[in-house]
Amino acid sequence: MSGSGIGYGKTILFGEHFVVYGLPGIASAIGDHTVAEVEEGEHELNFVDNRPAIKGYKDTKQDEISRQLDAIFNFMKIDVKKTPLKITLSGNLECASGIGASAALASSIARALSEHFELGLNDDQINEIAYEGERGGSGTPSGIDNTCSTYGGMITFEKNLSGGPNKIQRIHVTKPLDLVMVSTGITQETKEVVADVKGEKEKHPAKFEKIFSNYKNIFAEALVAFDKCDAHAIGKLMDKNQELLREITVSCPEIEEIIAVAKRNGALGAKLTGTGRGGLVICLAEDEHHAKKIAKAIENEEFETSITTIGKN
Ligand code: MEV
Repeated sequence: MSGSGIGYGKTILFGEHFVVYGLPGIASAIGDHTVAEVEEGEHELNFVDNRPAIKGYKDTKQDEISRQLDAIFNFMKIDVKKTPLKITLSGNLECASGIGASAALASSIARALSEHFELGLNDDQINEIAYEGERGGSGTPSGIDNTCSTYGGMITFEKNLSGGPNKIQRIHVTKPLDLVMVSTGITQETKEVVADVKGEKEKHPAKFEKIFSNYKNIFAEALVAFDKCDAHAIGKLMDKNQELLREITVSCPEIEEIIAVAKRNGALGAKLTGTGRGGLVICLAEDEHHAKKIAKAIENEEFETSITTIGKN
């Protein structure tokens, strides 16, 4: 018996960190994905990680990955001492903070395990397992990453803080968006950054209340902008979202440098995506031609870039 499964990478367009507190966010899966293959092993767990990754990613994430695997096995009641497994990861998703690599890992492994053990799990069940994997790895995730990884496409996401089902709605755009994704080269532990933000919020409740209220307006305007497919308006709102991310202390000099170069070269908007304090920056371009220009200018500053189109389906 063997099984395989995929999990998509993702990008958060609006609302990282805010979604942890039950505010709505907007995110999209990207085409790049992780592939997991599961087969019978010889001794407990043989985990082979062939995913492409930025330098240092796999070392930094080693503990997080083992916690994720333990959480998935626990939740699925799999005992590798009794049923040894070999799990091999591959795919074209280059692992970096902010791209949803840990969610893609969890989702792809859940799918592959379902196939291997002939469990016939549906997407909702796969998503539930992927969430447990994320919880094991990073503490108190909102669930936005595993939702994107499992279902694909562009969505709005609102965590149900009382524990019921999260609110997920699909967004359909008539014109796809061209994004330049830039790696700061810095890998972050989501768990730590989320905990730091929580600490800041506890220290400065009034400041956070104001930030949350500003963010809600940005989100509402973003929905209208997506509805009209107004990339200029979306870009401006991304800039505003980035201002709030600065205020909650999750930006860093490398992110700011990338944003400055992107803006000087015609980006309609630019912001960090995901955890922050490193990880990835997304820059919205008017079209593919502009995306290439922005990417080239940023590469001249020695940052790695890739261009992706979201909203195609
Ligand atoms: C990480 O990709 C996004 C955060 O909002 C954490 C989460 O939603 O679980 C920082």
